[in-house]
Amino acid sequence: MPLKFKVRKAREEDIPDVMKINMESLPENYWYGFYKHLLDNWGEAFLVAEINGELVGYAMSRVEDQGDPVLLGYESEIEEGGGESLMRKLFKALRMTELKPVGHLVSIAVRPPYRRIGIGSKLLEETIKVMREFYKAESIYLEVRISNAPAIKLYEKFGFKKARIVKGYYADGEDAYIMVRKLR
Ligand SMILES: CC(C)(COP(=O)(O)OP(=O)(O)OC[C@H]1O[C@@H](n2cnc3c(N)ncnc32)[C@H](O)[C@@H]1OP(=O)(O)O)[C@@H](O)C(=O)NCCC(=O)NCCS
Repeated sequence: MPLKFKVRKAREEDIPDVMKINMESLPENYWYGFYKHLLDNWGEAFLVAEINGELVGYAMSRVEDQGDPVLLGYESEIEEGGGESLMRKLFKALRMTELKPVGHLVSIAVRPPYRRIGIGSKLLEETIKVMREFYKAESIYLEVRISNAPAIKLYEKFGFKKARIVKGYYADGEDAYIMVRKLR
C-alpha cells in the first residue's frame, strides 16, 4: 500500500525537525533565526510533509519585490541567446522600475527514505498555489545546482524553465541555474 502523507503549514515547533531534514539533505544550511524569519513573514508558504506525525519534508519560501525581468518570468538569458538590441535594453530598463511580488523558493527537501513517492511534487504544487493565490505573485523562482538532476526534473515537471546561470553561486564553487515559472 502506498505511504500516506499529509502536507500542512509549518508551526514554530516544527523548525528543529525541518533543520534536521535540511542538514541531511543539502549542503546549504541555515541558522534557527532564518527559519523563524521565513515562518513569521511568509508562513503561508512554509510547508511541511508528515507521515504518521513524523516530519519527512519541507518547502520554504519568501516573497520579494522584484523588477528583474528574468525573475519576473518575462525573459530568459538561457533560451534566447544572442546579443541585445538598444530597444530591448531600453525596454528592459523601463520594466526594471516596476516592482512586483515574486515568490522565491528558498529550500525544499524530502528525507531520503521517503523520496520518489510524490512528496516533493505536492510541496511544490502547494507552494505554487499559495504564491499565486495568497501572495499574488507574478512568478516564482529558485536556484538549483546545475548538477542536481532530480530537482531540475521535478521543477521542469511543474513548468519551471532555466532562465539564468549564476557562476560560482554555491560555497564550493558550483554554478546555479535560476529557474522561473510565470504565474500570471
Ligand atoms: C528534489 C526532491 C525534493 C524531490 O522530492 P521527491 O519527493 O523525491 O519528489 P517526487 O517523488 O514528487 O518526484 C517528482 C518528480 O521529480 C523527478 N525526480 C525526483 N527524484 C528523481 C531522481 N532521483 N532522478 C530523476 N528524477 C527524479 C521525477 O520526474 C519525479 O517524477 P516521477 O517519480 O513520476 O518520475 C528530493 O530529491 C530531495 O529532497 N533532494 C535533496 C534536496 C534537494 O536537492 N533539494 C532541491 C534543492 S534546489
